[in-house]
Amino acid sequence: MTTLDIAIKLAEKGELPETPTFVVGLGGTLAANSTTEKAIKASLAGASEGGAETLFISGAELELPIYAWERKERGPAALHLIESLRRADGIIIGSPGYHGSISGLIKNALDYTQDMADDEWPYFHGRPVGAISTGAGWQGAVTTLTALRGIVHALRGWNTPMGVAINTATPVFDADGKCLDVKIDSMLRDMGKEVAESARVRALMRGSREA
Ligand SMILES: Cc1cc2nc3c(=O)[nH]c(=O)nc-3n(C[C@H](O)[C@H](O)[C@H](O)COP(=O)(O)O)c2cc1C
Repeated sequence: MTTLDIAIKLAEKGELPETPTFVVGLGGTLAANSTTEKAIKASLAGASEGGAETLFISGAELELPIYAWERKERGPAALHLIESLRRADGIIIGSPGYHGSISGLIKNALDYTQDMADDEWPYFHGRPVGAISTGAGWQGAVTTLTALRGIVHALRGWNTPMGVAINTATPVFDADGKCLDVKIDSMLRDMGKEVAESARVRALMRGSREA
């Protein structure tokens, strides 16, 4: 029996309050038709199928001032990001490959998790995190996925076994966000579902503490 099975059994017996699982997806680029954003949304749809409530924080919403530890003032967008991550039981992050690694936009947003350093659940502690990368070739997509998963590890998150690297050299999504590649679509959805299912443990624990 897994930890998840035990937690669900306790919840069913009424020993843990029912708490909806909350999954935050963040990332993308400032491009109007961002492929990365479409990939994150497909994965969030999988998280939703896995029973989670979801929230998407787009690339545009992540356009924050350069993170500087010395500066403590926070605008509404930074507060929205941090408060959403604090509530998150699971997280999905998507970044394009820019020059062999994640983009500055996404790295800067992730640096804001320093505001969570003294939380009861610091950084991504206790949360499953699904990672998605896009690149105009396999090399960039794969090195970016590896970099992103390394950052998740540094932030004490639990990388899901599956990560999704996407080569966008040929079109992967249509204008409405529908994935044109059956295999990539199922990988994105499966990873989202995996995040939602693993995040259930944290949701139940959070619920028991909030009760
Ligand atoms: C500044 C910049 C740097 C890039 N560097 C790389 C790279 O090193 N390797 C790669 O495969 N693709 C690179 N790309 C391509 C993007 O990763 C790719 O087009 C990605 O899918 C864009 O995501 P979007 O559609 O969400 O904007 C770069 C694109 C830009 C604009």
